[in-house]
Amino acid sequence: MVSTTQHLKFKIQNILMITLGIESSCDDTAVAIIDDRKLLAHKVSSQLDLHRPYGGVVPELAARSHVEIIDLLIGETLKEAGLEVSDIELISATGGPGLIGGVITSVMVAKGLSLANNTPLVFVNHLEGHSLMARFEVSDLDFPFLLFLASGGHCQILECASPGSYKKYGSTLDDAIGEAFDKTAKLLGLPYPGGPAIEQVANQGDPDKYNLPISMKGQSNCDFSLSGLKTAVRHLCTELAPLTDQKISDISASFQNAVAAQICDRLETAFKKYTKEQPNAKRQLVFSGGVAANKFIRSKIEISCQKHDFKLICPSPKYCTDNGIMIAWAGLENYKIGKSSNLDFTPKARWPLDLVVPN
Ligand code: KG4
Ligand code: ZN
Repeated sequence: MVSTTQHLKFKIQNILMITLGIESSCDDTAVAIIDDRKLLAHKVSSQLDLHRPYGGVVPELAARSHVEIIDLLIGETLKEAGLEVSDIELISATGGPGLIGGVITSVMVAKGLSLANNTPLVFVNHLEGHSLMARFEVSDLDFPFLLFLASGGHCQILECASPGSYKKYGSTLDDAIGEAFDKTAKLLGLPYPGGPAIEQVANQGDPDKYNLPISMKGQSNCDFSLSGLKTAVRHLCTELAPLTDQKISDISASFQNAVAAQICDRLETAFKKYTKEQPNAKRQLVFSGGVAANKFIRSKIEISCQKHDFKLICPSPKYCTDNGIMIAWAGLENYKIGKSSNLDFTPKARWPLDLVVPN
């Protein structure tokens, strides 16, 4: 436990605050307690086993499961940190976007705790959690930075100037990259979630075995398209049936290679745009969201960054996917610049990162 005098001293200097973060917008219930950049406790309850038989997240099951576990998880997290709920100085919870039943769970629990303990409250955008996660781990990552966010529901390139200030460069015209991984895994008979499953079998495959399409290549915008690639994999599976383990590995490796090639091509346009719009800014690319856990894609982006003189910064692989730390940290970052929420906040199924929503 942090000593009170020591804590107060640092707090005055740096606005250190013991922050509770609550996340339940998809299929993980997660709670974290941080003290500025220090992690005090983190608990995650994954619903993967619940959803796996359906090959994807079932919203109604997800919502019920969050409600059942969230109180218990908050209690366990406080216990692990050696704290009482009255020690919490800031509550941060996901306010959207996401599956609305899950978002309502976080929002209602956070409001209740805030009201009962008279604790300041911040509702954060889940995507901002992913966006700022790297700043929790890397203290010299300054604003602004170029951000590539790739998760199960989102695929965007943005410029991040400060918490809550984003300018979108491009996004997907159809599927998100994580979603494409999940759907392709289903075609190949691999388990949900598809991203880690494809990455694992691709390690035994040849990325150049099959020539799959690289959509949007050479286009002057920063948009993505994944649906053509998914259809090409479907045709390939029919052509190559029956699928042996080796064929599945080769298709997975070739799919991953085509995804990485599209990302690098799209980033090339973004690097040029960012350099033109922010000529004096440090050249930094933050890659985050569940897909950023993929080592092959990271390595390809790293090469692309080196070529364009950008520094690549990613959260640790275990913090690329949904977690409570990113929500606690994003709340703290917003609070430090004077943003907070009140009890009128409405949970949001949709909440574009580049749209400023009044709290
Ligand atoms: O950020 P996240 O945990 O949840 C959302 O906010 O969507 O991302 C989950 C997505 C899933 O689609 C999953 O298949 C993908 O991230 N993912 C990966 C990897 N790990 C998770 N995709 C590719 N390679 C991985 N290693
Ligand atoms: Zn996420």
